Amino acid sequence: MKTEMIQQETLKEAVRLLQEGEVVAIPTETVYGLAGDATSETAVRRIFAAKGRPSDNPLIVHVASVEQAKQFVTHIPDVAAQLMDTFWPGALTIILESNGRASSLVTAGLDTIGLRMPDHPLALQLIEATGLGLAAPSANRSGKPSPTSSAHVAHDLSGRIAAIVDGGETGIGVESTVIDCTTNPPVILRPGGVTREQIESVIGNTALDPALSMKDQTPKAPGMKYTHYAPEATLSVVAGDLSFLQQLIDEARQNGQKTGVILFDGEDIEADVRCFLGTTMETAAQRLYDCLRRFDQTTVDQIFVRDLSEEGVGLAVRNRLHKAAGGRIIRP
Ligand code: TXA
Ligand code: MG
Repeated sequence: MKTEMIQQETLKEAVRLLQEGEVVAIPTETVYGLAGDATSETAVRRIFAAKGRPSDNPLIVHVASVEQAKQFVTHIPDVAAQLMDTFWPGALTIILESNGRASSLVTAGLDTIGLRMPDHPLALQLIEATGLGLAAPSANRSGKPSPTSSAHVAHDLSGRIAAIVDGGETGIGVESTVIDCTTNPPVILRPGGVTREQIESVIGNTALDPALSMKDQTPKAPGMKYTHYAPEATLSVVAGDLSFLQQLIDEARQNGQKTGVILFDGEDIEADVRCFLGTTMETAAQRLYDCLRRFDQTTVDQIFVRDLSEEGVGLAVRNRLHKAAGGRIIRP
């Protein structure tokens, strides 16, 4: 299959493809999504096949309004309505009781469904023009870092999907926060673009899925149990200061290994390949996946990154880094 690259001017072509049950990668404000009609079994099967995604991992349905969200759920509890009102359009996926309208492949047989209204003009235009709820996981091959540019999508999925809508680089850079509103208090299943602090300022207390901090627990978001984001080289999180980081890199180089390091701007560390995250946690979120993907274009054997704070979007960035490192932490 030849994958078409679609620009804003030719968005109609993407509308047609989606209405015919094809899958199309689309930009959102978090990461690119691989979109298909959420009510079409054919389209949803194509999404799973193109990504190589395990079928027990449910998809998020993207909508353009609260009214459209209502088409997919039994009811909207008050807390969920408050969250939609405050954070939609935005990087918040809300898990509610499904009414069965979406294909059962979308929900992976669960009786709940994840819904999100993305804050991206092209994504919203596509949802509105097709009149469809669009099921869309991140548009990467399963296990790889999520794509934050159309080039990332093309790298992973060219030849496997009908088209890519090019919207340049995504803004936030990490995926949406997933919050389960079928329980009291609501539970954050995946930290993401909307912070826990922001959510709690609106609805009060939330819980964090214990699996986010304890290894022997099964996560409630099926997707959180899989290895994810891992670069080809061995990535280690370093829980120590800059001089300890340099010491580890020097040791690896003495052992003949080619080293990579992920740094904030201004951090003066020597390694064979360096990647910089900017100066804030927000820029770190924007650049993290591109950094991880860049190392795959090099021949580094070992990558090091210092551990991060969990404040604000740091909770999400740190979660992705620890997953990418497969839990490998080096302490002094
Ligand atoms: O920012 C995002 O959320 C991006 C863009 C494209 O919207 N999408 C995304 O989708 O990250 P995906 O499929 O890569 O991640 C969805 C996560 C998975 O961990 C999945 O298991 C969880 O949400 N999830 C979806 N529906 C669920 C449900 N009913 N119950 C529990 N977890 C659910
Ligand atoms: Mg994903």
